[in-house]
Amino acid sequence: MPAPIPADWREANRAMWDERVPIHAESDFYDLDSFRAGKDALRDFELAEVGDVTGRTLLHLQCHIGVDTLSWARHGAAQVVGLDFSEPAVETARALARELGMGPDRAAFVAADVHDAAQAVPDDAYDIVYTGIGALNWLPDIDRWAETAASLVAPGGFLYLAEFHPLTDCLDDETGSRIVHDYFSREAWVDETPGTYADFDAPTVNNRSVEWQHPVGSVVSALAAAGLRIEFLHEHDASLFARFPVLEHGSDGYYRFPAERPRIPLMYSVKASRPDGPGSRR
Ligand SMILES: C[S@@+](CC[C@H](N)C(=O)[O-])C[C@H]1O[C@@H](n2cnc3c(N)ncnc32)[C@H](O)[C@@H]1O
Repeated sequence: MPAPIPADWREANRAMWDERVPIHAESDFYDLDSFRAGKDALRDFELAEVGDVTGRTLLHLQCHIGVDTLSWARHGAAQVVGLDFSEPAVETARALARELGMGPDRAAFVAADVHDAAQAVPDDAYDIVYTGIGALNWLPDIDRWAETAASLVAPGGFLYLAEFHPLTDCLDDETGSRIVHDYFSREAWVDETPGTYADFDAPTVNNRSVEWQHPVGSVVSALAAAGLRIEFLHEHDASLFARFPVLEHGSDGYYRFPAERPRIPLMYSVKASRPDGPGSRR
């Protein structure tokens, strides 16, 4: 039997994100001054795995304040579209695009729930649909997400996803060495922690959040069932932050287990393509 979904999940999450947008825009974590000055927000493994985006159209689902989206434009994407359900996030992204001299024909941002993306975005399909880095955990139904995301991939195009590995959420926070949560749990994870990953001490009032864990197998299978061909599933031994205190910060900027500790995957990435040719759109 499916686990119950809290009725207020969308409103609670949106209020939580709306409140955090101005905090993020002012934070050292997002460091928008450096971004404006040219700093790339994308991770090197994403750039290597996605490859050359020159001249391509790219849709970024759950784009937050748009720094990753706009970075793809800086890497040469002909047109980028970012979608997020937080109006303040979309407004911040639009302002950043204007500051970078990118008009809506080059970088457009739309406010909509990800499940309504097909109706909300300007085009039927995109060469690249990009998402991740803390996105899927906000969604209750991974099959529904995959159907929507896959429907927006143009024939000959692909979806690329980079996410934190859900196995990390099964381990104890203190040591990352004991399994304390069920990998296959379908229960909503409701939290009330104030602050944000960009500023743990920020005073906040909209703290209720509702999240879900999606096993890697269910994500990949959902994309395949939605008509995409899985090109790769990469598991990474590195993370973007100190998920466990024991992780060591490497000179490349990533966090890893010390050499003497057995490793587990800390992140994963998937590329899934839509074959070219007649009948390839569902
Ligand atoms: C952790 S952030 C993504 C982070 C992003 N990769 C970055 O660092 O800029 C998650 C984003 O998902 C958005 N989001 C959450 N649930 C959503 C939904 N149902 N539809 C659209 N956007 C959603 C939030 O507003 C937030 O901007």
